[in-house]
Amino acid sequence: MSDAVLRNWNPGNVAKWGNEPLLIEHTLHENPLFSREALADLIERYPVEHYALVHTGKRGESKKTWREGEVGDLSGQEVIDAIGNGRMWLNMRNVKMVDDRYGALLNTIFDEFSAKVPGFETFNRGMGILVSSPGAQVYYHCDLPGQSLWQIMGRKRIYIYPTEEPYLPQDELEKIALYGVEVDMRYDPVYDRDAIVFDLEPGQMLTWPLNGPHRVENYDVLNVSVTTEHWTDDIRRSQMVTVANGILRQHFGVTPKSRSLDGPGFWAKAALQAGWRRSPWMKRARRNRRPIDFRLSRENPGTIVDIPAYTR
Ligand SMILES: [Fe+2]
Repeated sequence: MSDAVLRNWNPGNVAKWGNEPLLIEHTLHENPLFSREALADLIERYPVEHYALVHTGKRGESKKTWREGEVGDLSGQEVIDAIGNGRMWLNMRNVKMVDDRYGALLNTIFDEFSAKVPGFETFNRGMGILVSSPGAQVYYHCDLPGQSLWQIMGRKRIYIYPTEEPYLPQDELEKIALYGVEVDMRYDPVYDRDAIVFDLEPGQMLTWPLNGPHRVENYDVLNVSVTTEHWTDDIRRSQMVTVANGILRQHFGVTPKSRSLDGPGFWAKAALQAGWRRSPWMKRARRNRRPIDFRLSRENPGTIVDIPAYTR
């Protein structure tokens, strides 16, 4: 049976899978679910609680200029035009909750991967669609689940950094796991010397090692990308260790030494993090969210209008 999503799969990918950044060809940019019309239609019916519209700074500007807003009463096509003229990105998170055709596609993607990579079994798969402005950037950060980035329209440059100190400081990874702060990672431009850099074109996807720090710069063209995330048993165990190590460091002043995913140390940490998840600490830690304080302007596409700030 030929693949619906993956194209020109290289058997050499199996050895690299999860161990190094991997560029793979795909067909999603030809899929009618990602045509401009389909995306406009999806934007128009996307529930506000499931998307994030973020106004970003110019290239090289400080991250202080991040604001979150809503699309307002624009049509889907107008939203795309506004993003094409502005400096922002729209992340339609969790798209399978909103339209199950994308959920079916997500299953196809991971079925094809598991048919090719022995032992690759995933659960809790997710898909987001990212529409972003010419020149927009995503700051240096890392993600907790397994990640892949699929290019649909436009062109972007992605920098992937090593998963070791100082690029991936354990204390910061732990804070992200504990408190859900995603974008405040220490970054030094000299790190770029050790980054692997890809220019991603429609029909190419990139996947990289777990927690691999990365940042993205769009070229001067409207970009549409898909992000997929996944959990495996190992990723879940790794996450439990990260959370437990964070509790030890933040609440008990202990510097954790081990990241073992098995044995008595692992099971003690599994119990520790399970207790924390049920505790009021967790609820307090997770409450902070950025307020929504603008909407898109219909009169001047690409600009924003202040609205009274509120939180979802
Ligand atoms: Fe990311």
